[in-house]
Amino acid sequence: MPQAERIDGKVFAEKLRAEVASDASVFSQARGRQPGLAVVLVGNDSASQVYVRTKMRQAAEVGITSFPHLLEANTSEAELLALIDSLNRDDSVDAILVQLPLPAPINETAVIEAIDPAKDVDGFHPYNVGRLSGGQPGLVPCTPLGCLLLLQDRLGDLVGLKAVVVGRSNIVGKPMAQLLLNAHCTVTTVHSRSRNLVEECRQADILVVAVGRPGMIGAEHIKPGATVLDVGINRIEDAQGQARLVGDVDFAAASTVAGALTPVPGGIGPMTVACLLRNTLTAAQQRQALGR
Ligand code: GUN
Repeated sequence: MPQAERIDGKVFAEKLRAEVASDASVFSQARGRQPGLAVVLVGNDSASQVYVRTKMRQAAEVGITSFPHLLEANTSEAELLALIDSLNRDDSVDAILVQLPLPAPINETAVIEAIDPAKDVDGFHPYNVGRLSGGQPGLVPCTPLGCLLLLQDRLGDLVGLKAVVVGRSNIVGKPMAQLLLNAHCTVTTVHSRSRNLVEECRQADILVVAVGRPGMIGAEHIKPGATVLDVGINRIEDAQGQARLVGDVDFAAASTVAGALTPVPGGIGPMTVACLLRNTLTAAQQRQALGR
């Protein structure tokens, strides 16, 4: 059986971080300060704590100053909005990341909409969502941006390719479909209510899967030779009772059909963090160009 090429997101992310480090150093020389990333975490969700620590460690490694704001789980929406207001006004902060999900009573939409769009490093503010859908430059969500960079690295020009995005979240599925459309792919988004999921997926030259269901995509979903990106990060217990991370794609099965495939871990995850650093620098450079 043919074995798909394994797309190494870790190696690609390292290259991307080296480029960011070089640009960050140019910025720091010109401005007399490093680009600044405020990281806001509310509560003590353990997965979120791990992500936030990774983001801050890697920021330091590329010459970005991070400003951590680790808030109690019972923080009120008003307190969080007041913090965002002060970060919006703080000139040493170029980028604001509010780790999602937020604890229950806090309205995520209100919080995202309070972030200055110029500092919206996640690209979740309606202004940046609108810019992306209009095909204009802006800040683009980190995970889909990482996927696009990997696809362009492997496939070059994406014009005319058939892309299927599995999942329609605001964080991954929807912006991914927009990016692929802007890159001139023929794009279909499928989701939990779609009919003919298998048939739709089997048409795809590019299959991006972001649903959060371990192993839901198997060999039968994949067109021979397709490029498959697995965005899922699911914690499961294996047959030996050991906890481990798996994607939404059954890697072993998919490897027999796909042309290339990202592993979990070591695929899209490292690219998301590298793109966060890239976006921080983009925000810093754009604010500099605006004289802010
Ligand atoms: N939670 C899961 N993914 C993300 C992300 O890309 N950004 C933020 N802020 N929170 C997340």
